[in-house]
Amino acid sequence: MSAQVISGTEISKQIQAELKDEVAQLKTRGVAPGLATILVGEDEASKVYVGQKLKTCDRLGITSFHHKLPPDTKEPDLLKLVDQLNKDPKVHGILCQLPLPKGLNADKILLAISPDKDVDGFHLLNMGKLLSKKNMKEIEEEKMYLPCTPHGIIQLLKRTNIPMSGAEAVVVGRSNIVGKPVALLLMAENATVTICHTGTRDMGEVTRRADILIAAIGKPKVITAEMVKDGVVVIDVGVNRLPEGLCGDVDFNAVKEKAKAITPVPGGVGPMTIAMLMVNTVKATRKLSGVK
Ligand code: GUN
Repeated sequence: MSAQVISGTEISKQIQAELKDEVAQLKTRGVAPGLATILVGEDEASKVYVGQKLKTCDRLGITSFHHKLPPDTKEPDLLKLVDQLNKDPKVHGILCQLPLPKGLNADKILLAISPDKDVDGFHLLNMGKLLSKKNMKEIEEEKMYLPCTPHGIIQLLKRTNIPMSGAEAVVVGRSNIVGKPVALLLMAENATVTICHTGTRDMGEVTRRADILIAAIGKPKVITAEMVKDGVVVIDVGVNRLPEGLCGDVDFNAVKEKAKAITPVPGGVGPMTIAMLMVNTVKATRKLSGVK
């Protein structure tokens, strides 16, 4: 059996088509959604990611305000820019691309972004809201910003009709950006969630239990065919650069022979992260302008 390959590219296109109409409607009512992006330094991967975000804004009719800062930017200057963007009525969402160069404290910068403009969902207030909600209904009612990659993963599963309620979900990785928040969202979807990390004694023993396996490790091809059971659904969050090209955290060719469904790299989770950023930007525009 070979797995269904879940196209994040296609699902992201559907979401973008929905959003394009919403943006056009907002504009007819006198509100133009605006996203400010901040890129500090010369990290090559970050340049690519921010470039993709700006291109998507353009495609959807969202105004972007890009701020490119040198690698030796001092913390007070970055904080001053964030303060200006917090106050700018044309800016509804603010994104500071991570990682920041050495010497800049990401926690401090993220905390300075207004929680109402925090379209990445990284501000402690938004992270705390996510932690405090019990289910998706409560999360939706709160009209909060969900972190983009975890929210994109949930949308991939939903739009592929993968049942989450009652499923055994195993998350590999415990980062604040992916592992922890995706575990909370899967729990809110009523899955039984286990998180593996570098301290896990026998990772294969845990991952073989998974009906849904989320790989967010940041190392190439860690998840092998021996580590999954037949019929698993695998979501690969990894983007690793090897001499032969990009690859995920999953040994795709081997694991796809056992899986029911699997995301590719590239073309899986990546496009979904961008789509959910646009969702949050439109949400922020409605919230700040008061236009429903
Ligand atoms: N670095 C890796 N992923 C992300 C993301 O989703 N947002 C930002 N701002 N930086 C990142």
